[in-house]
Amino acid sequence: MKLMLWCLNSMDEEIKDKYFKAGEIAALARDKGVEKVKKGASLLEVANYIESLIYSNNAKPAFPVNIARNHIAAHFTPNPKNTQVFKKGDLVKIDVGAHIDGYIADTAVTVEVDTDVHSSLCDASNEALKHAIKMMKPGVSLSKIGETVEKTITSYGFKPIENLTGHSLNRFVLHAGLSIPNVPSINLLKKPHVDDVIAIEPFATDGYGRVISGKGSNIYIAQASKSLRGLREKRSKLQIKRIKKEFNSLPFAFRWCEKLFSNAEVSIQRLTYLNLLHHFPQLIEQNNGMVSQKEHTVIVTENGCEITTLGKNEEVI
Ligand code: CO
Repeated sequence: MKLMLWCLNSMDEEIKDKYFKAGEIAALARDKGVEKVKKGASLLEVANYIESLIYSNNAKPAFPVNIARNHIAAHFTPNPKNTQVFKKGDLVKIDVGAHIDGYIADTAVTVEVDTDVHSSLCDASNEALKHAIKMMKPGVSLSKIGETVEKTITSYGFKPIENLTGHSLNRFVLHAGLSIPNVPSINLLKKPHVDDVIAIEPFATDGYGRVISGKGSNIYIAQASKSLRGLREKRSKLQIKRIKKEFNSLPFAFRWCEKLFSNAEVSIQRLTYLNLLHHFPQLIEQNNGMVSQKEHTVIVTENGCEITTLGKNEEVI
């Protein structure tokens, strides 16, 4: 009887399978992609490679591959004309999202190009993630997780980034209500429940410990609340409908729009001006500190959580 009840209440097995499949594909794309991050390789070729791996495994990107170097903590993806290449000493965060039928996996790693100067900065976010995952279970205080993340990172002599957080996921929703902080926080009253899907992502820095908004990231999202009623421009109306159909409520890259519109640059600018799209800014470390990040997606179980995005050769935590 108990078992039956559990079956009735628990996440549909089919949905769970999709979460795990998306996790496997995101992990594969992340790990294969990281192998391509070498001195002289272009950001564009790495981004395209990772996204093509996601597609060839019958999933879709849940957001554009984020390639954030050095003091950029998150939110950057190259445009089609980008000519930047990785340089010796770059500290590179590769943040990958894949979804199957809207069920998302979100995962990131940090690698250094040809140097080993920032290995302890990377260890700090890696260890913080391990501790956070160990603590994750139904009813746990998220503030306590933040406290542990902070303690772990400061024990390495670095600071957590206090205004970035992990986040719960829902079908086609990247930020579904729960935030997992990198520091203790009194504002977090919600607690995780069984079957919650959560991306945990500690960020560590040798800078100030906060991010500020920088230039455009080339990553956009359709503004969900914006009504199309009263919008007189027929063309913009059609274009925003097309974007919503193509990317749903998930973020997308300018790169992906060239196949949608003949005049993508003008169209995206116009839609952003009309407030139908939001253009995410790059997130820059306030003191231009170096930033490391590590991220996994987990599903909360009765006693703990299961990682969906574990790499092939990654030890189980
Ligand atoms: Co995330």
